[in-house]
Amino acid sequence: MDPKDKLIIALDTDSSDKALSMVDTLKKEVNFFKIGFELFSSCGPAIVKDVLKRGCRVFLDLKYHDIPNTVGKAAAAAAGMGVSVFNVHALGGYDMMKRAAEAAEEEAKRLKAPKSAVIAVTVLTSMDEMALKKVGVSDTMNNEVLTLAKLARSAGLDGVVASPSEIKPLREALGGDFLIVTPGVRPEWAAKGDQKRVATPKEAVSAGASYIVVGRPVTAAEDMAAAARKILEEMRS
Ligand code: C5P
Repeated sequence: MDPKDKLIIALDTDSSDKALSMVDTLKKEVNFFKIGFELFSSCGPAIVKDVLKRGCRVFLDLKYHDIPNTVGKAAAAAAGMGVSVFNVHALGGYDMMKRAAEAAEEEAKRLKAPKSAVIAVTVLTSMDEMALKKVGVSDTMNNEVLTLAKLARSAGLDGVVASPSEIKPLREALGGDFLIVTPGVRPEWAAKGDQKRVATPKEAVSAGASYIVVGRPVTAAEDMAAAARKILEEMRS
């Protein structure tokens, strides 16, 4: 796969004008963009449609977590917009994830369109083992991540979001077909910002990431297109 197809740029802004200007500046280099809570809560489904209209793919990062019926309806709405990937929290449980996967499949059939990939967030990377204990989970971080990833796969999900340090054990345990989408990626030349456990784009892809998500190293760069090109060159080298 061309590295270009593995790079997702996070459109972390509250303004539709800014987001679309990032897409227009970058779309020669990149054609996959992540829309998260900030942009979606500010601009709604219109921004998803506007990015799709430009011929780009969208990862809708809204991390659904509710009862299966509600998540199923939200999943149908996400899939119905034509996003390539959306996600749910694995902690919502087997039935919730299964309902999301079924909704994505039903929408694809109804629209005669490619199915949206549904991926799970296992444990938020902002949590450590102490934070897990405080919410009543006594397992180690690695075991908990693996348990939730396996549950996601058994519920029919297509993959997981995983931090750089989780890629290798997940790839070994879950095989080659499962999608692993990895944020927390920093080229050597970029500031780490608030990301703590980082890997370079090349390291993440070599460890087995299917896609990497990069935000500020590109979106805060003076020349966004040049920063994206530099990352792609590094991934190819
Ligand atoms: O700017 P930066 O490259 O840190 O952006 C990373 C993006 O990935 C942000 O949209 C952030 O919310 C998201 N993300 C993350 N870590 C996770 C899950 C999502 O950084 N575990």
